[in-house]
Amino acid sequence: MTILVTGGAGYIGSHTAHLLAELGRDVVVLDTLERGYRDAVGDLDLVIGDIADDRVVAKTCRKYDVDSVIHFAAYKAVGESVSQPLKYYKNNVSGTIALVETLIANGVNRIVFSSSAAVYGTPDSSPVNEDAPLRPQSPYAQSKADVEHFLRSCDATGLRSVCLRYFNAAGAHDSGDLGEDFSLTTNLVPVVMRVLFGSQARLDIFGDDYPTPDGTCVRDYVHVADLADAHVKALDYLATGGTSLVCNVGTGQGTSVRQLVEVTESVTSRSVPHAIGPRRAGDPASVYADPTLIRAVLGWRATRDLREIITSAYRWHQRHPDGFKR
Ligand code: UFG
Repeated sequence: MTILVTGGAGYIGSHTAHLLAELGRDVVVLDTLERGYRDAVGDLDLVIGDIADDRVVAKTCRKYDVDSVIHFAAYKAVGESVSQPLKYYKNNVSGTIALVETLIANGVNRIVFSSSAAVYGTPDSSPVNEDAPLRPQSPYAQSKADVEHFLRSCDATGLRSVCLRYFNAAGAHDSGDLGEDFSLTTNLVPVVMRVLFGSQARLDIFGDDYPTPDGTCVRDYVHVADLADAHVKALDYLATGGTSLVCNVGTGQGTSVRQLVEVTESVTSRSVPHAIGPRRAGDPASVYADPTLIRAVLGWRATRDLREIITSAYRWHQRHPDGFKR
């Protein structure tokens, strides 16, 4: 019995696929390699193909005797989703519907889905729990909410799902040989790393006049190794008969942009040149998780703090200044 990891050549997908392999589980990665990297898959089995290609998915299910799926494969750039909505709905939503149809036809009835706290938009307050209203503010976030909704409907087919709403994923593998591609992303930790490694002159802090303790935005940074572990626990929950579930994956701790810069300077003993710039449109002041549900139902909690996030990201960039090669 094998776990199919779609998007397993991407950032969170590759960490999860390797963790599963380290735990002795059989894994096969399905990835187009459009935005993922072959080197991130390493010596794991890799099928190059699209989730919407029913022949490739069906063949993979049969060949590997797939019994469960972790579905990461998706586009995830919020800004791009605004300018290219068709691309996002087609890949993230239509692609997932096609994938699920093929999975069901091949007797696969357990799926863990990579969702996002972006489905909450600007929450009324933090910590935010799973009952908060969904107010997606971009086609990307809407695509995640749509797939959650679709998967809930699929309960009627016998498919059981866990949707994991990630907060801010960051950090890298302990080995220093697996991490995030920081060339394209605009997320805070990769940007800070770009500044430290000289490919960006300084960090622009997007606003310091928010109603937060130091005026900069507060987020919930979760170590990618902890995130990977949440997927293993979600799979095990489904394998032991758990019913469909939607839960937050966050630490419950809010960290401001300024605090993150201070921790980075302390961990690396280097200064992070920065300047205060204007607010970024659409940024909520403060978003951090209420992780009560995932603790209670999956027995998961974050075990690594912000220092470990920064230490591991720094190690990855030191060892791989150009990231993975295409
Ligand atoms: N920030 C800066 N300067 C930068 C980049 C970011 O000040 O150059 C600030 C942002 O204003 C924000 C914080 O750092 O306050 C984090 O920003 P990110 O872009 O790293 O992350 P977001 O919280 O905007 O969004 C992330 C993911 C989404 C996901 C969401 C879930 O990018 O996909 O977390 O909470 F949905």
